[in-house]
Amino acid sequence: MNISVIYYSMTGAIYRLAQEVAAGAEEAGATVRLRRVPELIPLEVIEANPQIKAAAEAQQGVEVALLDDLVWADGIALGSPTRYGNMTAQLKNFLDQTGPLWAQRQLVGKAVGFFTGAATMHGGHETTILTMSTFAYHHGMVIVPASYVPPEVSSTTTGGTPYGPSELGNKPDLSAEERAVARAFGRRLAEVAGKLRA
Ligand SMILES: Cc1cc2nc3c(=O)[nH]c(=O)nc-3n(C[C@H](O)[C@H](O)[C@H](O)COP(=O)(O)O)c2cc1C
Repeated sequence: MNISVIYYSMTGAIYRLAQEVAAGAEEAGATVRLRRVPELIPLEVIEANPQIKAAAEAQQGVEVALLDDLVWADGIALGSPTRYGNMTAQLKNFLDQTGPLWAQRQLVGKAVGFFTGAATMHGGHETTILTMSTFAYHHGMVIVPASYVPPEVSSTTTGGTPYGPSELGNKPDLSAEERAVARAFGRRLAEVAGKLRA
């Protein structure tokens, strides 16, 4: 099965989470495309902020997402940091270009799941995943949550929600629980995508 992990990350946390989701899908035997959506922040703003600049440089080697990455995939993971409980404009801008795919029903029946990150514990992990998920309803996709299948969802004191993987606090490294939930989610997305494809 083919899995596309498509994300936006301004300062690196969601990039780290996306890599774990991709690794989980590969563990399940999927062919994976890891892709970042186009940046909308002006270059001079990026250049003036050392943290954003370093994250942009770290992601230089990641290919930019195209609509074909959605069409190619049997399963899709979409990731964005929270912005006031919602996805970023960068990911929304990419998803807002899928009108032709919607008109041609090209994403109907594909597996899809969502992941996010927030600076604070109650700052929007679940709301961001839920508000991102309206995309799936309109495209007729099959939503794959993390659920409580990974035991770390029950024990985590950092990120990792039943709705989907998440990261808390923009740490230099993911916590063990965040990593475990992201990997398990990636595996599960690939397994469900494989069954739907069959
Ligand atoms: C404009 C803006 C709005 C944000 N809104 C929230 C918020 O509502 N709740 C929260 O906990 N964090 C909020 N954050 C913090 C980021 O979502 C969080 O640090 C994220 O994990 C960073 O991901 P990244 O390193 O991949 O960019 C906001 C950040 C920005 C720049």
